[in-house]
Amino acid sequence: MGCGNSKSAAISSAGGSDSVRDNKLKKSKIVFVVGGPGSGKGTQCERIVGKYGFTHLSTGDLLRAEVTSGTERGQRLNAIMSRGELVPMETVLQMLKDAMLFKVDSAKGFLIDGYPRELSQAEAFEKKIAIPKLVLYINASSETMMERLMNRAKTSGRADDKAETFKARLQTYYEATEPVVQRYDSKGLVKKISAEGTADEVFKLVCEALDSLK
Ligand code: AP5
Repeated sequence: MGCGNSKSAAISSAGGSDSVRDNKLKKSKIVFVVGGPGSGKGTQCERIVGKYGFTHLSTGDLLRAEVTSGTERGQRLNAIMSRGELVPMETVLQMLKDAMLFKVDSAKGFLIDGYPRELSQAEAFEKKIAIPKLVLYINASSETMMERLMNRAKTSGRADDKAETFKARLQTYYEATEPVVQRYDSKGLVKKISAEGTADEVFKLVCEALDSLK
């Protein structure tokens, strides 16, 4: 992924001018999916895609794809992610916008998983892309998240699935992301989902929240 001009040009020629496509994005149904590390955001997004046909974009996945591509930028990103810190805002927003523009003609709606992670990301997204229709807040205790991630670590191969990185990710989450939830809560956009149950139980709650979305 990246912000290369050739891709932007291809997008423009495929489906209208940049401003037309920007306008389409503005009118899209956008759902932010936020929650701590290992709370189950990705698991629920997969199910939502299956039932509602939304387009799922995970900023973590977009960043890991850049890491896997082996570029110099990927190596820099890998170092940041392995420390459990946040990647610079401009990098993430541009990647996300490119990916959204690429899908804007076919998407029934967008599930933006793992974004925004700090207030400045929320503000920049609203300014440059759109205002979300809903924020799904996937909420689990730190003990539950730790247990799930340590389980996943046995097979995931993810550089950040380690006990010490988990602590840093958790701290980043509480300090930077919880204020985002409070911001959208004050606008009446947050649906808080208890993620302590099984994936099926959690999905039932997620469906109730999404069905309330007009
Ligand atoms: P990211 O990839 O977004 O990681 P995360 O937020 O830490 O979340 P995870 O993907 O680890 O967990 P999840 O909530 O999706 O849970 P999952 O469904 O997998 O980000 C990684 C890094 O990238 C960040 O630390 C940062 O450096 C960078 N980054 C990403 N976005 C950024 C941004 N916007 N700005 C700046 N930097 C950014 O489930 C976890 C496990 O639990 C799985 O094994 C699953 O099977 C299991 N599980 C799920 N639900 C249940 C359940 N209900 N019961 C039992 N097990 C369950």
